[in-house]
Amino acid sequence: MKIAIIGAGNMGGAIARGLATGTLVRAEDLTVTAHTQATLDRLSADVPSLHTTLSNLEACRDASMVLLCIKPWLVQSVLEEIYPAIHASNPLLISVAAGITFDQLNTFLAGDQRPMVRIIPNTAISIKQSPTLICFNNQVEEAQKAFVKALFDELGSAIVIDEAHMAAGTAVTSCGIAYALQYIKAAIQGAIELGFYPQVAKQMIDQTVLGAVNLLEQNGTMPDTEIYKVCTPGGITIKGLNEMTREGFDNAVIQGLKKAAGK
Ligand SMILES: NC(=O)c1ccc[n+]([C@@H]2O[C@H](COP(=O)([O-])OP(=O)(O)OC[C@H]3O[C@@H](n4cnc5c(N)ncnc54)[C@H](OP(=O)(O)O)[C@@H]3O)[C@@H](O)[C@H]2O)c1
Repeated sequence: MKIAIIGAGNMGGAIARGLATGTLVRAEDLTVTAHTQATLDRLSADVPSLHTTLSNLEACRDASMVLLCIKPWLVQSVLEEIYPAIHASNPLLISVAAGITFDQLNTFLAGDQRPMVRIIPNTAISIKQSPTLICFNNQVEEAQKAFVKALFDELGSAIVIDEAHMAAGTAVTSCGIAYALQYIKAAIQGAIELGFYPQVAKQMIDQTVLGAVNLLEQNGTMPDTEIYKVCTPGGITIKGLNEMTREGFDNAVIQGLKKAAGK
């Protein structure tokens, strides 16, 4: 299956590198574009067997799947540019552009109804550890849905939701990686105040967070279950937890997510 990736930045570049080293697509079947040759040269240096071109139209000819990995404000002009190829071969169109709806994509395509997918990864896609939110429009066939989900499962974990939840999901996962990192940053600062050097503090917090996530995954538990295992009645953990809640930790996270989701 020939796949065109339009835009080779943080998202497009990481998706290209990830798919090229995965099991479902051959690197030779990927054609990647960018605005500048320098970006394509960097990509080719990493994965020489990828095809690259500065021509979006050329990349889309014969493609069964086209991934739009350009900034949201470029989606309309790029779709107009590649329209002849899309009109001729009817590829599955996958948009990574945050906030651009199916309705807008349809409008940019002169009202054509065609199979389309919206995806939202986060930056951990560069290490194949991204949650990728996926929603499909009504024209996408079941086999196409399964293939797209499998592609992004290889780059972390694919989560299919409906379009109405994409903005909220973007806040939770795509913005959410920054919130998770903010916890790590704050914990490092606390550990430094308690007398640890920054690198030692970082090592302690990184492994603590990694272990917490792996516990949830491997035990199939919710956080409360693992939290209460640590809370001796009258002990220090519950004192720390309750102080964090009093200081607004839970509420700050909830309100931050709602703000990012536009609620
Ligand atoms: N970053 C995130 O965490 C994240 C998460 C979810 C969704 N998204 C979405 O992903 C999309 C891409 O974001 P990004 O962070 O990957 O941006 P980025 O790093 O700036 O990459 C954009 C890429 O588009 C290329 N480009 C610009 N104009 C082009 C054109 N006319 N034709 C072909 N390629 C062109 C650029 O080429 P040059 O490198 O040569 O300039 C660059 O490689 C956005 O729509 C964003 O909403 C991003």
